[in-house]
Amino acid sequence: MIDHTRHPFQILAEIARAARHTADLEDFLQRIVAAATDICHAKGGTLRVLQLPEDELRLRAAAGLSARYLAKGKVTVQQSLRKIYAEGPLVIQDIETDVRVQYPEAAVQEGIAAIIELPFAVVPDCHMVLRLHFNGRITPSAEDLAFLTAMGEQGAQAIRNHLVPDRYLKAFQNVSQAVHRGNDTAAILQGIVRQITELLAAAGCIYWIVDMDAMRIEAKISHGFSYRSLAGVDCAALLRIFDSTPGGVILIEDVAADDRIRDLQGLGKQHVRTVAGLVFGIDDRIRGILAVYFSAPYRLTRQDMDLLKVLGEQGAISLHRSRRYDENMLDTFRRTVEGLVTALEAKDPVTHGHSLNVGAYARLTALEMGLSTRAAEQLYHAGLLHDIGKIGMTDKILARLGRLSAKEMGEVRLHPVIGARILEPLVFLGDLIPMIRHHHERYDGSGYPDGLREDAIPMGARILAACDALETMLAGRPHMPRHRPADALARLQGGAGSRFDPKVVRALTAALSKGPDAPPENGLFSSDEDVTNPLKLFPLGF
Ligand SMILES: [Fe+2]
Repeated sequence: MIDHTRHPFQILAEIARAARHTADLEDFLQRIVAAATDICHAKGGTLRVLQLPEDELRLRAAAGLSARYLAKGKVTVQQSLRKIYAEGPLVIQDIETDVRVQYPEAAVQEGIAAIIELPFAVVPDCHMVLRLHFNGRITPSAEDLAFLTAMGEQGAQAIRNHLVPDRYLKAFQNVSQAVHRGNDTAAILQGIVRQITELLAAAGCIYWIVDMDAMRIEAKISHGFSYRSLAGVDCAALLRIFDSTPGGVILIEDVAADDRIRDLQGLGKQHVRTVAGLVFGIDDRIRGILAVYFSAPYRLTRQDMDLLKVLGEQGAISLHRSRRYDENMLDTFRRTVEGLVTALEAKDPVTHGHSLNVGAYARLTALEMGLSTRAAEQLYHAGLLHDIGKIGMTDKILARLGRLSAKEMGEVRLHPVIGARILEPLVFLGDLIPMIRHHHERYDGSGYPDGLREDAIPMGARILAACDALETMLAGRPHMPRHRPADALARLQGGAGSRFDPKVVRALTAALSKGPDAPPENGLFSSDEDVTNPLKLFPLGF
């Protein structure tokens, strides 16, 4: 069918050359239709573009067909796209009877006897259709169709080249505007992973935030399939796949043939075929890892990589800013805590250093129990603040602790509730409040304010209760002499199961038996310790 006397490959080479030098897309598309019509001795041809979710194939170029025929009506998608595009080139010989011909009468009137239709996917939601119309019956060979496909692909590529930078630029503008407006970081990252997934028609996209010091995934924002997949990977496995150096790029075109994801059996490896990822430095400790993954082989273009890079960088900028903001806020928080503790201890010099010591014991106990560093830091702060409710008590009561009337005792017993109330407006301290409210509960349910028992008492409060008691015994009170460490620990163990959670007592005993941190005669600290950097407490705002 194709006229080989016209040197088809020379024509193809000319089109390819024109693709590089023609700035006008419409001109170029027109050239393709004209060349395809010409070399096939067709009556005419059209090139239409379908932009989903529209159903109309809009005319972009035509050759050899009458204006009346071209104006016959809206050309729409008659079948499911999937069917059309899975079938590839389509040859229609029976114009009058083939249901795929939308306007058979107009076609007959135009003198059309056969049609070749070649579909092309430009980008996932945009398709191009090249149609050639013939006066008589045709018998195209597979080579003829392959040749026409190669020609049409030039047009699809030209449309892609116009469309993609425009879309990528728009995505970049959206994200960077959100970053510059100071929008919520989580929302920005969510927007980034969603846009990447949509623009690249990927199976999914994830932005991990990794704390390199703690070797922990701090947060993970993802878009895409929800079953266990790369999204479920732990920190060690993640860092085996991705080089943690900022600027690092990983590209695995075929997961099945690559050793780096060998460890991901059971993590949805069967659903992931191509993975591309980039690493961004947020600060000294924190890395952002952006990964996009595809369920079918996908060859990322340079433009795709640029998109990942610029959007990932915007995410990194937003994270960097939000962390700096958090740091400033936590600095304020730290000064607030110090101020509150100083105010309390100024009122109650007898217990000077008590809060610091309780905080330090609580942190050790938490770590001994295998709780996270973050939980241990929270316990340290809860220890600092556990008696903050006493700040509202009269100096008289505080000075006479141990020789109190029933009424005064009732007032003292309110301090956990008052403490929780004082901290309530400080949203950052939300996790600490239950620990403070319940630090006088007893394991057997005989404590206050709510008489909670066993596991109903928050773990942090159970830890504080034991550490509070130990510190009080070691430091002594006006009505109670100091205990030697061995005696204090023995009494603590005596209370395991009744007053204290046995697990906590075991952990506290074990923690204190470990050399340098064993309790000295006067508790761990006799003077102010530099309050541990509370930044570790709330590293991110989400
Ligand atoms: Fe207390």
